[in-house]
Amino acid sequence: MASQRPPPKIFVVSNRLPITVKRTDSGRYDICPSSGGLICALDGLVGITGFSWYGWPGIEVPEGDKEEVQRELQKSNAVPIFLEGDIADKYYNGFSNKILWPLLHYQMHEIKICSADWDAYQSVNRAFATALVPVLEEGDVVWIQDYHLFLLPSYLRQLLELAKKKVKLGFFLHTVFPSSDFFRILPMRRDILEGLLACDVVGFHNCDYTTHFLESCEKILGLERRNSQIVFQNRTVTALTNPIGIETEKFSRLLDEPTVQDRCKDLKEGYKGMQLMISVDRLDYIKGIPLRIAAIDKLLTKHPELVGKCALMQVIIPSREEVPGYQELHTSIDASVSAVNAKYEYTPIQSLFSSVSQAELTSLYATADVCIVSSTRDGFNVVSLEYIACQKARHGVLLLSEFAGAAGILTESVKFNPWDTDGFAEAIFRSLTMSEDEKESRWERLNQKIEDNSSKKWGQTFLEALSQ
Ligand code: G6P
Repeated sequence: MASQRPPPKIFVVSNRLPITVKRTDSGRYDICPSSGGLICALDGLVGITGFSWYGWPGIEVPEGDKEEVQRELQKSNAVPIFLEGDIADKYYNGFSNKILWPLLHYQMHEIKICSADWDAYQSVNRAFATALVPVLEEGDVVWIQDYHLFLLPSYLRQLLELAKKKVKLGFFLHTVFPSSDFFRILPMRRDILEGLLACDVVGFHNCDYTTHFLESCEKILGLERRNSQIVFQNRTVTALTNPIGIETEKFSRLLDEPTVQDRCKDLKEGYKGMQLMISVDRLDYIKGIPLRIAAIDKLLTKHPELVGKCALMQVIIPSREEVPGYQELHTSIDASVSAVNAKYEYTPIQSLFSSVSQAELTSLYATADVCIVSSTRDGFNVVSLEYIACQKARHGVLLLSEFAGAAGILTESVKFNPWDTDGFAEAIFRSLTMSEDEKESRWERLNQKIEDNSSKKWGQTFLEALSQ
């Protein structure tokens, strides 16, 4: 009897693993869940298929401790790719976060091109390819995530061809892909595009990003485009628009927990007589935090009847603390919040610079009358989905920047341009004074979309496209 071929194995590859490794004062290792949109995005894949997750553990691990870290991560199906400190710094803080991140989010003044960072980026992408090729077998699927690994598909393809193994290669970009006119600023633009074109499918959260990628291939590489496909080296590469979702059950479960319900009561009591607005962001210059502070100030100046009647609680999660632009941002946010608060006889803006637990986050989402997402650019923004998922009881209003990728599908939110301070303030006013009927009808439609478009569906859609 002919033996049946085993189902293809799936390898997810990203810079950050779902588990972050930290060294304790005693020299041992602690592991904790990582944060960020990408990690939530892949939550759904767990429900569809088994997979191993390859990535960088985030710290330099001495030779003698590697086995221990490997063992710890293995418990979460994660496999570490160890990097040496200086190379990791240039690849992650350098090329990924000082060059690619600002480039992808149209932040020209933050881009600091450096050839040593580029060298490190290439060598880390090569190291990932070298680690993966020996474990890959004919028919396997490799799904690469995000901008830290733009070159990995081409290095993998070269090595796989030498090893005579046919493996499906997919890539998903969780950030914006800027217009070709902006993308072409990058001196290494050809290498990055050719890296992506080594894949069979390249996915994006928003159709504008897909178009920008396809146009970059046409205009920068002079390639032929057929609808959403590019022909490259006798292969057809598909660009797919596939917006991410979330698993709403996780929030429903948390909302039923007595500790979350008690916390919601405390929050309501604490903000009695006021409408609570909330925002939740990583501390990042793309999140439009200073623009949001200016809009709150404008709102209270233009509508003095709201003074003492509404407050913003902004949760700001520390991020990329070794990149200079990020450190300065914290100081400037503190200064502008203090200046606004000093103008009024109460505290209209409260900032919490810290990570918060899922239970606390759920309580905040459930209690807030309005959620503000003010990003000046944002690949998607899952906070907007999480807020809606936690608003079953009160149908709060989602105020969503038109520059967040999520605005492409969350069309029933109140959209605004964060750069237009007057328009932003008016959008907040509109949200705070919206009728219950309108709130309910907007929320119903948004919630339906969120239920229909789970992260499981996102994963399934991508893997199906890849298997064709
Ligand atoms: C964004 C990126 C992710 C990244 C996350 C957190 O969502 O698309 O790839 O993991 O930010 O950033 P960090 O640099 O801490 O991984």
